[in-house]
Amino acid sequence: MKQEVQSVPLSGPYLGEREEELVLEVMRSGRLSLGPTIDRFEELLAERVGAPYAAAVSSGTTGLHLLCISAGIGPGDEVITSPYSFAASANCFVYEGGVPVFADIDRRTLNLDPAAVEAAVTERTKAIVAVDIYGYPCEHDELRAIADRHGLALIEDSCEALGAAYRGAPIGSQGTSCVFAFYPNKQITTGEGGMVTTHSEEEWHLVRSLRNQGRPEPGGWLEHIRLGFNYRLSDVAAALGIGQVERLDEILARRSEAAARYGELLRGLDLELPCDDDGDHRRSWFVYVVLFRDHETRERTVATLEREGIGSNRYLPSIHLQPYMRDRFGFGEGMCPVAEDVSSRSLALPFFTGIDAAAQERVADVLASAL
Ligand SMILES: Cc1ncc(COP(=O)(O)O)c(C=O)c1O
Repeated sequence: MKQEVQSVPLSGPYLGEREEELVLEVMRSGRLSLGPTIDRFEELLAERVGAPYAAAVSSGTTGLHLLCISAGIGPGDEVITSPYSFAASANCFVYEGGVPVFADIDRRTLNLDPAAVEAAVTERTKAIVAVDIYGYPCEHDELRAIADRHGLALIEDSCEALGAAYRGAPIGSQGTSCVFAFYPNKQITTGEGGMVTTHSEEEWHLVRSLRNQGRPEPGGWLEHIRLGFNYRLSDVAAALGIGQVERLDEILARRSEAAARYGELLRGLDLELPCDDDGDHRRSWFVYVVLFRDHETRERTVATLEREGIGSNRYLPSIHLQPYMRDRFGFGEGMCPVAEDVSSRSLALPFFTGIDAAAQERVADVLASAL
């Protein structure tokens, strides 16, 4: 008889009775949108990340888009960002006619290399969109200094980094406007959703108006003082978010434990493991991404993992090499050698809050046999 192989998914949400209870409460209240649950979720998250203001939005992408509008990015403005990220961290300003300028990444952290950012600044540069890739804090202070020296806006895409800390303080508390995201593979989820955090009351009001069809605050339902969007989060989603933030510490601890277990299990294999925390950077574990010796080894291993029912994904392709970026901006190979090399060899392994030791051991065994 053929033995069943135990499949291991790439990711999955971590939800419980508390979330069910909170969602039911909202359903029974009849306030499904623009209700008090949104305010509570925003207050909780703002407090958690150490920012005075937070505005819930429908996704990480929409939050980033609104911060790009707030930064005044318009047609022809250059925006420096990381090629080694999810496409939304560049799309957010392309929506406004901004032109992506990809600066290469640091080989160890996989985040923007400040020297490459400095070298990419021109007279047309308007902003920097920095990313905390895989939950590892970017070089915030160096990037802030570059932005201030050249009069640029700095936006932090912290979509993967809720709970991370930079120089001992939570990401979100540094004074820079950030966006966190809550798709089901993230540290916490609202199904779809995001949160803009800011230290500017003016920007907070602007984001709240923009997400709500450009309505004034306070103001009438049919009054629109600017071109806005429907980028609102529902109260049902916010209820989920409250339950998740309430146990963020437990979630982060479980994820750190799972990451440490992979560290033990994979030590000795021919793989580069995620970089360690140091005094300045404390990661919030989002995904567990390893680097293979070369592209061919990765591809061979992906095929083995697939056969064994183990989820994996080639996190992350370089954005500038995506077909639409090549077509629109004429980008090609060789622009960002470090990012391109990493993209050709990196792979996300199954990683989620509820992953158990047995599943991780199986992943490690299959990897060992493939290598
Ligand atoms: C780095 C980064 N930026 C932006 C986003 C966009 O978030 P969302 O999928 O909620 O729009 C994501 C989410 O996958 C992300 O990982």
